Amino acid sequence: MTTSTRSQVAVVTGASSGIGEATARALAAGGYRVALLARRLDRITALADELGNGSIAIAADVTDRDSLQAAADRVRQELGSASVLVNNAGVMLLGPFGTSQRDDYRQMIEVNLMGAITATEVFLGQLKDAGGDIINISSVAGRTARAGNGVYAATKWGMNGWSESLRQELLPGIRVTLIEPGVVATELPAHITHAGTREGVQKLYDQAEVTAGDVAEIITFVLSRPRRLAINEVLFRPAGQQ
Ligand SMILES: NC(=O)c1ccc[n+]([C@@H]2O[C@H](COP(=O)([O-])OP(=O)(O)OC[C@H]3O[C@@H](n4cnc5c(N)ncnc54)[C@H](OP(=O)(O)O)[C@@H]3O)[C@@H](O)[C@H]2O)c1
Repeated sequence: MTTSTRSQVAVVTGASSGIGEATARALAAGGYRVALLARRLDRITALADELGNGSIAIAADVTDRDSLQAAADRVRQELGSASVLVNNAGVMLLGPFGTSQRDDYRQMIEVNLMGAITATEVFLGQLKDAGGDIINISSVAGRTARAGNGVYAATKWGMNGWSESLRQELLPGIRVTLIEPGVVATELPAHITHAGTREGVQKLYDQAEVTAGDVAEIITFVLSRPRRLAINEVLFRPAGQQ
């Protein structure tokens, strides 16, 4: 990224760990002032202190529209209009399909899909003012589905459809990019509630070679392209993933 991005403001949801944390680091290193949003305020406060350069930590639950609206108000007041929104907050609560997983289904839909939709809705005015980018973190699971990941995949397929519509609606002022990673080493599987599934998925993730930093690098590349060029979609996997 160039120094021309130095005064720009980026908002990252789910900035307390994994891909969100790495993206916040990369954006700050590229000169953005970054608003870090997540529920774990201790983590994002420590990260904002470390990053400096005007970064701020804001406790926000993406399932709570009021907390997102308050975050948007704070960003505008303290940093100015955001030109980048990274819709990254997500949960992957895998398990066999059945009634016992119902709370997990609701949580995935509320966080992964409605959370991104609501964050975009409350930041849209700023993004239009500043001219900018929406980065939606989808997944390989937004392109293919497997036994046991149906509702997670449904949230990511939903995000893909919504993103494409948004892309057409907001062009040319706002670019919308879908990021679709395969397995990335993060704490994502640690939150799976179905014990047998958690153990199996954790074993897979323990061997993961692609890092959150790799994803962040792709995001900063996308953002740094000249405004005449929009990268609409980036699908990538570990080289050994089917
Ligand atoms: N790792 C992978 O293999 C992979 C592959 C493809 C796509 N993805 C996607 O990448 C995104 C980031 O996941 P990750 O792998 O980096 O996992 P992670 O380390 O578990 O990060 C998830 C982030 O989402 C936040 N979050 C969860 N629920 C939230 C809520 N209700 N409100 C606000 N923030 C919430 C968490 O913060 P708090 O708990 O502090 O709120 C955390 O910062 C997700 O959308 C995931 O679906 C991951």
